[in-house]
Amino acid sequence: MLPANDSLSLTLADFYTETRVTFGGAAKDTLRLDDQTLTGPALTKAVKVVDQVRSLAHIQSAALIESYNHVPTAAGLASSASGMAALAGAAAKAAGLTLDHRQLSRLARRGSGSATRSIDGGFVRWFAGHDDDSSFAMPVAAAPELLASIRVVAVVFSDQPKSIGSTDGMARTAATSSYFAAWTERADEDLTLLLPALRQGDFRAVGTIAEGNALAMHAATLAARPPFTYFLPSTLALIQQVGQLRERTGIPVYATVDAGPNVKLLTLAPYVTQLQLWLQTEFPTAQVTITHAGPEMSYHQTRKEEN
Ligand code: ADP
Ligand code: CO
Repeated sequence: MLPANDSLSLTLADFYTETRVTFGGAAKDTLRLDDQTLTGPALTKAVKVVDQVRSLAHIQSAALIESYNHVPTAAGLASSASGMAALAGAAAKAAGLTLDHRQLSRLARRGSGSATRSIDGGFVRWFAGHDDDSSFAMPVAAAPELLASIRVVAVVFSDQPKSIGSTDGMARTAATSSYFAAWTERADEDLTLLLPALRQGDFRAVGTIAEGNALAMHAATLAARPPFTYFLPSTLALIQQVGQLRERTGIPVYATVDAGPNVKLLTLAPYVTQLQLWLQTEFPTAQVTITHAGPEMSYHQTRKEEN
């Protein structure tokens, strides 16, 4: 999973995954997600992470993976980032490996590109690199006031799995969209501008860049052949109305949309209540979750392991 460009994400506190891996816990590799046994592509992706762990630790036994997502799965809220980062950490630990964050981010990348950035907390940059060694993530510096006061308002219109997964959607866009090259060029420029804005705590610059960058990505999917979009009509309606609200009131609020129909509004703590009320009036059926910057991956011992 080697990307075309560097990228940046914000790890979120309230969208996370808990995963336990037990080598020798099943006769063959087994993935249980939210108490359902998954096979097919979901298992294949998880096994890529587990295979790498087995080869690093020189073990052969099958893995039982038990995972719980505190985030809707495959709905554009980055369950793959959360889930595969948790899997990398849990599998390495279960195999007795001691890996640093750089190594864990490379391991998580085997399951999902986005997971590369989700080992660390706060703002995280994925260095695209050119091979397995050089493609990893690291936290980036941000003004402490910005990190403390940034809020993400997740507006969920649909928690159903999207019809085209992120990896397949991006592969089709890269192979066929005439806007893909322009998008990667733009993404490099955006990141160059974003890094100093984060350091200086310039939230308006951060929001403007994030919003423009996300929309440019969605423009590239519309130009793929066959064309596709992750947007629902309500996705576009919210993006437009947020722009109007910002113009009219001066509230610093920006929209960003991952590969899915749901919108994440970026804002600052003092504006959250006002935005919540506005959303209740304008989008009464949407499910709204407010969250903030989250910590790095952590290990929890279960009762069973303590005994
Ligand atoms: P999303 O927008 O949720 O990130 P993706 O298409 O990128 O959607 O990835 C969704 C896929 O990630 C799931 O179909 C599954 O294969 C994988 N996934 C999500 N959560 C977990 C988890 N906790 N453990 C293992 N794999 C997971
Ligand atoms: Co994903």
